[in-house]
Amino acid sequence: MKRWLALFSLLYVAAFSLVTATEQTTPSRTAPPAPRAAKAAPGPTNDDCLACHADPDVKREAAGTSVLVDPAKFTDSVHGALDLKCVDCHADLKTFTDFPHESKLAKADCTACHAERVTEYDRSIHAAARRQSAGSVAATCVDCHSMHEMREKTDPKSLTYPLSLPATCGRCHGDPKVIAAGHIAIGNVADLYKDSIHGKAVSRSGLMVAANCTSCHGSHDVRKKSDAESRVFRANIPATCGACHEGIKALYDTGVHGTAIAKGNNKAPVCADCHSAHQIQRADVPSWKLDTIRECGTCHADKITTYRDTFHGQVTSLGFVRVAACSDCHGAHDIHGKNDPASTVAPGRILETCRKCHATANANFAKYDPHADKHDKARNPTLFYAAGFMKWLLIGVFGVFGLHAALWFPRGFRERQRKARQA
Ligand code: HEC
Ligand code: HEC
Ligand code: HEC
Ligand code: HEC
Ligand code: HEC
Ligand code: HEC
Ligand code: HEC
Ligand code: HEC
Ligand code: HEC
Ligand code: HEC
Ligand code: HEC
Repeated sequence: MKRWLALFSLLYVAAFSLVTATEQTTPSRTAPPAPRAAKAAPGPTNDDCLACHADPDVKREAAGTSVLVDPAKFTDSVHGALDLKCVDCHADLKTFTDFPHESKLAKADCTACHAERVTEYDRSIHAAARRQSAGSVAATCVDCHSMHEMREKTDPKSLTYPLSLPATCGRCHGDPKVIAAGHIAIGNVADLYKDSIHGKAVSRSGLMVAANCTSCHGSHDVRKKSDAESRVFRANIPATCGACHEGIKALYDTGVHGTAIAKGNNKAPVCADCHSAHQIQRADVPSWKLDTIRECGTCHADKITTYRDTFHGQVTSLGFVRVAACSDCHGAHDIHGKNDPASTVAPGRILETCRKCHATANANFAKYDPHADKHDKARNPTLFYAAGFMKWLLIGVFGVFGLHAALWFPRGFRERQRKARQA
């Protein structure tokens, strides 16, 4: 009977070691090693390690800094709660028993259990920067997850909890020293983001679904905007914003700009050209609306010039948004060429467009040309000749009266001298 029991327990242990071995190399997060199995493995226990590492007085020989690992905090972490062993991460001590160990150990390895995340991270700008230079201060697992207090992203105390993320990335992307050391050209993004509609939605409204840094950049595979696989690569921006603003993306895709981008015409605008990336405002903020008119004008220079000549253009240039901006007539996302029947300025729809504000407008009113060009004879002959006439009238008037004044001056001068002599 005893022999049978011994054989059984041997088989049991062997089977478990097998399971542990396969699970530890499985790159799936749904297949973590069974904690019970971890206990059964040979090698040092957590108590062995904590014999020294729970003592705040145990210090590094060279630096004199403590190597304390707070047992209570570790137990409270996602890994501690799962009874992970210290040596699951500090794998080079897996079978070590002859303490004290070397003062320099290998980096903790996450691959055994989180291979997918490690691979993603390895492709990021953060990992690339670390590989390129030993002195790099780019983010590692520990910077975004902490060392021994890692928590699940659904835990409000986690550094990766959605409402905490701006601070987690902001610890570096809001720190002038890191920004300078990393040559991050865009500068202090954390500050810009804080005052944006998304930043306020996260920090003030506690809105879990608002965009935080990782919604637009990803968590592990963060890439430079010049990288075609980056979520913020120009052509990918509509899809990145569209993940949440699905309705707008659908409109944008049908419009001239979206169609042009989809065809690879990078001269057309994407979301961030009109809205910015980190300073996005509510769409009804007057200063933003006025900026957007200028933004349209950077690409449609001729149209903004003619627009500025009109009543609408003059009033918006004075800083008032009550009158029509470009998007009030053309739409913002589903913009079409004037010959497309879907266009808000197409002959069939123009009256409806003016009537949004000019309730009593009739067909005649809508004939008014919002881009009338006084230099364009073919397009606006009446305006062309009227403007020409006005110009020559002006020249004529100033010319005649100028000459008159010029001739009058010496005569008046002589007259005054004559009167003085008489007196
Ligand atoms: C006898 C005491 C003692 C025990 C037991 C002990 N350590 Fe250490 N450990 C130290 C000291 C002292 C240092 C600081 C070494 C230095 O930098 O001088 C240290 C440093 C470390 C470091 C940092 C290494 C580095 O490269 O900076 C890690 C990680 C570590 N220990 C993990 C463990 C683990 C895991 C265990 C259990 C398997 C363990 N230690 C057991 C005393 C101990
Ligand atoms: C989930 C993985 C994981 C587990 C489990 C873990 N550590 Fe660590 N530990 C790390 C990481 C990551 C670092 C950062 C340095 C590195 O990458 O090696 C670290 C660093 C350390 C250091 C150096 C601390 C310092 O301030 O420089 C010590 C000491 C240490 N661990 C001891 C322990 C002990 C003792 C346990 C068990 C109670 C333990 N670790 C469990 C991941 C882990
Ligand atoms: C730049 C910050 C950052 C770095 C660096 C980083 N992470 Fe993460 N990680 C996050 C964020 C944010 C989340 C939560 C959102 C998500 O799942 O994308 C997360 C989630 C995770 C998850 C849970 C994923 C899931 O699907 O539930 C694991 C596991 C993880 N990270 C492991 C790692 C490992 C291992 C490393 C290092 C190789 C690492 N992380 C580096 C930010 C980071
Ligand atoms: C021995 C296996 C093992 C190792 C090694 C390990 N972890 Fe984990 N980790 C787990 C398990 C199991 C979970 C809980 C299930 C899950 O969410 O993946 C977990 C959860 C996490 C979470 C929380 C995920 C979430 O849901 O948001 C993070 C973050 C994390 N690990 C990071 C790390 C990092 C960083 C390292 C390396 C320093 C590491 N882990 C090493 C097994 C491990
Ligand atoms: C520990 C500091 C640190 C943390 C935390 C950190 N980063 Fe970074 N990040 C850097 C550094 C340094 C660089 C520059 C790397 C280089 O090219 O040398 C960088 C580069 C970047 C870049 C590319 C910018 C460029 O000009 O190269 C983006 C995008 C980025 N990080 C986003 C994020 C996001 C999103 C988070 C949070 C999920 C985050 N970072 C967390 C330090 C950090
Ligand atoms: C709503 C989406 C969005 C959010 C939220 C967001 N970003 Fe960005 N980010 C972008 C876009 C789009 C770009 C590209 C900007 C451009 O082309 O001007 C960018 C660019 C960057 C860059 C420069 C990248 C490069 O390669 O030059 C960094 C660094 C960065 N963001 C960090 C962050 C950090 C940190 C946060 C959180 C505080 C954050 N971002 C939040 C969309 C976002
Ligand atoms: C050519 C400039 C331009 C582009 C490109 C653009 N927008 Fe807009 N967006 C605007 C204007 C102008 C408004 C204000 C519309 C109004 O007042 O009716 C606006 C409004 C919005 C609103 C608020 C909803 C509303 O109508 O008030 C959201 C959300 C939005 N845009 C998201 C996006 C997203 C996402 C993209 C990319 C898929 C995008 N925008 C591309 C100019 C643009
Ligand atoms: C993770 C989801 C998410 C992503 C990604 C996202 N947004 Fe938003 N956005 C929101 C939410 C939620 C709000 C509403 C916030 C509020 O009203 O407090 C919002 C609000 C806005 C507004 C103001 C709308 C209004 O009513 O005036 C604009 C404009 C906007 N986003 C543009 C963008 C652009 C451009 C991008 C991409 C660069 C983007 N968003 C990416 C979730 C997102
Ligand atoms: C980044 C440059 C850029 C910005 C900003 C921009 N556009 Fe465009 N727009 C284009 C390009 C390029 C096309 C031509 C697309 C095509 O047909 O391939 C275009 C086409 C158009 C058309 C169709 C007429 C035509 O010539 O095909 C209208 C109308 C239009 N834009 C209005 C606007 C309005 C209104 C705004 C501001 C809300 C704006 N655009 C902002 C680049 C821009
Ligand atoms: C009061 C309404 C109104 C405003 C405001 C307005 N437009 Fe127009 N726009 C029109 C109408 C109507 C047309 C078509 C008439 C034409 O040009 O033949 C047009 C034509 C255009 C076209 C050429 C379309 C094509 O298919 O050839 C572009 C580009 C354009 N506008 C851009 C702008 C820009 C940029 C602004 C702001 C600076 C602006 N518009 C302001 C009404 C307006
Ligand atoms: C967003 C609202 C809005 C839209 C759309 C709009 N307008 Fe206006 N427009 C105004 C306001 C406000 C004034 C100031 C005078 C007033 O209150 O009538 C004005 C003034 C004018 C004026 C000069 C003053 C006058 O009443 O004679 C003309 C001409 C004009 N608009 C033509 C048009 C035409 C044509 C369209 C359609 C293509 C149009 N507008 C679309 C708001 C708008």
